[in-house]
Amino acid sequence: MIYINELQKYLGQSVTVKGWITNKRDSKGLAFIVLRDGTGILQCVVSEETVGNESFENAKRLPQESSISLTGNIVADDRQVGGVELQVTQLDIISESEEYPISNKEHGVEFLMDQRHLWLRSRRQWAIMKIRNTLIMAIHEFFQDRGFVQMDAPIFTGNACEGTSTLFETDFYGDPAYLSQSGQLYGEAMAMAMGKIYTFGPTFRAEKSKTRRHLSEFWMIEPEMAFYDLEMNMDLIEGFLRHVVSRVLEKNKEELQIIERPIEPLENITKPFPRIPYHDAIEILKGKREVNGRNAITLLEEDLKNAQARLEEIHADIAQREVKVADQSTKKGERKFHEDKLRALHSEKSNLEELSRNIPTWLESAMNFEVGNDLGGSDETVITRLFDTPIMVYNWPHEVKAFYMKRDANNPELAKGVDVLAPEGYGEIVGGGERETNKDWLVDKIKEHELPMEAFEWYLDLRRYGSVPHSGFGLGLERLVAWVCKLPHVRETIPFPRMYGRLLP
Ligand code: 4AD
Ligand code: MG
Repeated sequence: MIYINELQKYLGQSVTVKGWITNKRDSKGLAFIVLRDGTGILQCVVSEETVGNESFENAKRLPQESSISLTGNIVADDRQVGGVELQVTQLDIISESEEYPISNKEHGVEFLMDQRHLWLRSRRQWAIMKIRNTLIMAIHEFFQDRGFVQMDAPIFTGNACEGTSTLFETDFYGDPAYLSQSGQLYGEAMAMAMGKIYTFGPTFRAEKSKTRRHLSEFWMIEPEMAFYDLEMNMDLIEGFLRHVVSRVLEKNKEELQIIERPIEPLENITKPFPRIPYHDAIEILKGKREVNGRNAITLLEEDLKNAQARLEEIHADIAQREVKVADQSTKKGERKFHEDKLRALHSEKSNLEELSRNIPTWLESAMNFEVGNDLGGSDETVITRLFDTPIMVYNWPHEVKAFYMKRDANNPELAKGVDVLAPEGYGEIVGGGERETNKDWLVDKIKEHELPMEAFEWYLDLRRYGSVPHSGFGLGLERLVAWVCKLPHVRETIPFPRMYGRLLP
């Protein structure tokens, strides 16, 4: 089997490649097939003179997504994506496709989500999945290189880890069990056996609302380290994110280009991540504290003004181009040019309209934020607007954090948690912290959260038998992919998303 991404090695030779027709056009005596095989795309030239009438008619007739085998000569062609072109000598049909539901015209996202099993074949989705793959491998590489042991935490569990409101309950031989929200508690047990571990598995949260950041099933990476305090944890998170993003920059230039992801913001990953105590973050949110002379509130007000000004420009531009498109005397090429521009303008317009609707509510919620509360999605967007790297918010009011979070002995109002907020409006991608080691405080917290004590006895054992300071964090893979790829929604970051209102395909 020869794959498209290795064809450079076969210049001047005859090869056979197998794949799917993703695009096609023909002119007199020549058909051009763009073949896709999962490793790349290849322009294939079918000439009637060479392949004969029957094969040529097949080349012209076969619908998009038909699977075929093509034999021919590999010639260099700088204009083509892989730098080569196939001059076909033989075409064999593997399976002729029925009419394919996804065409090259624009489709709505809901339609595409219904066709997810096919949508995955499109170039953009392909690029996203390649980047996801790089991130997964880079995550393993980072931890393996540093002596962490990968462990698999159970998925059926009797323990609520992250609050009881998002539990999926299921039937475990007649007893209730939950689908795991997090492998952390098991990771803590394993860290006491292995020193440093990480889990990397599916986790489940019943999030009965549609947001761009929440899935019902997502993949979480959760390292847990014995003898680590919050500071060491934050150092690890920073090095970790730097490593995985750098790998994407190294390995996925082409994919980043396909999805039109500007790379400068990713290159900033080499800068130190600001570490901001919760109370300072709130002052930034409310515009009472500036960052490098910039104020979150006034910056957002400027964003709003700019969005509105740009919208006016766009309206005028759209009106002018629509006249040109409607005009019968406009040449075909020029019309197409305006139509393309119009598509781009409409999409920019709807983004800006959304922003203009959102900013006033963001501002309102920032101004009315009550100290002591958890940050909402929009609050994270407002704060991170001032930064061009991820930031780490730490020392949280203990009430808003999970029961296991270590209280600060000098300031028991605070818990030693840390959230990493990604820039460009993305917000939380990592949540973690130092774990409570004081057994009595832990017992109080379990009661306060109304968790069943008997289900946590084993967890308390970790404090009974050789308790040590320890820390860890959880990174949501899909949130990371969404940020790295700059996607508007996590649904495109995973092959088959599971979320409120979506179980098929
Ligand atoms: O902040 P969370 O809830 O923290 C924990 O689960 C800890 N037990 C982690 C640990 O310390 N070991 O979740 C961690 C991360 C979030 O920062 C977010 O990236 C992701 O998991 N996440 C979700 N991703 C997609 N959809 C959801 N519904 C998510 N909920 C959390
Ligand atoms: Mg969190």
